[in-house]
Amino acid sequence: MVPTVEWKNGAVRLLDQSRLPGAVEFLDCRDYRMVANAIRHLKVRGAPAIGVTAAMGVALGAQAVTATSYDEFARAVAGICDELAATRPTAVNLFWAIERMKRKLAELRTKPVSEIKRVLTEESQRILDEDIAMNKAMGKHGAALVQNGQTILTHCNAGALATAGYGTALGVIRAAWEEGKKISVLADETRPVLQGARLTVWELMQDKIPVTLITDSMAGALMKQGRIHLCIVGADRIAANGDVANKIGTYSVAVLARAHNIPFYVAAPHSTIDLATPSGDKIPIEHRNPNEVTTLHSGPAIAPAGVEVLNPAFDVTPAALITAIITERGVFKPSELSSQFSA
Ligand code: MRU
Repeated sequence: MVPTVEWKNGAVRLLDQSRLPGAVEFLDCRDYRMVANAIRHLKVRGAPAIGVTAAMGVALGAQAVTATSYDEFARAVAGICDELAATRPTAVNLFWAIERMKRKLAELRTKPVSEIKRVLTEESQRILDEDIAMNKAMGKHGAALVQNGQTILTHCNAGALATAGYGTALGVIRAAWEEGKKISVLADETRPVLQGARLTVWELMQDKIPVTLITDSMAGALMKQGRIHLCIVGADRIAANGDVANKIGTYSVAVLARAHNIPFYVAAPHSTIDLATPSGDKIPIEHRNPNEVTTLHSGPAIAPAGVEVLNPAFDVTPAALITAIITERGVFKPSELSSQFSA
């Protein structure tokens, strides 16, 4: 797999996911505003990938600040952090990563600005490296829940593309596959932006993991026919009570899974767990451009001009519908998260 995000010759290089699967193109961001735009316009997307990219955006922006006193430098970096934080509201990894960069900046207040710039860049790389390590650990824990011969339904893209590498939900699937289990994946296309059709399918086909594409409306019938054994999805934010915000349509999958007695798992690292948000109804839900609904991947209109459109990008699955949450520290019931992950 090509890297989703990396430092390359002093720039933040992103695989432009808005062009997939038609073209594999890279975007070299040479200033932090380009990074912010790439996040806003889904050139990079997926909660952990957004966090890693924002951390790199902070470091990139910091490098260009000309101030030599700490206070002036820190004020400029705080402004950069604010702009990056305003790109998307739901995935908590964005705020988690920016806060981590701010903490690092504060720790370095007695150091020369040139050194702070270097350490901030190193910190962003550490966030990237840790993300991959967490995904691999999550994969190991989660793979134990997957049996030989099973078919797994996933929604949206929670793969290498949505993270610094390996993936969360797809990381579990990858790990089970690497253990030699003969599994197959059903990928929901995931309207409106088609992350399932465009990204999950592309990514799994690269790794030769058997995958079949379905439209979102097919999942219930396939569950009824006994053709889905478990569901694994990622998360954009997990509240303290275990409620999970993820791509719109996830809630429908969870309801269907419960109705058919099929386990429903969420895979996410600790950077997605937001203990400051008590429950799912407090999670801010992003509403995106109606064009995403009235076209298919920016193609010709599929609805009459001027139609009223709703386009919430995420929904909340209540903890009660979640069998377990797979993390880098192990597999927990939603109700166990707050004690397992409190500081
Ligand atoms: O709008 P997106 O594509 O950023 O939404 C992504 C998702 O909902 C993913 O399932 C989630 O971020 C988990 S990614 C490991």
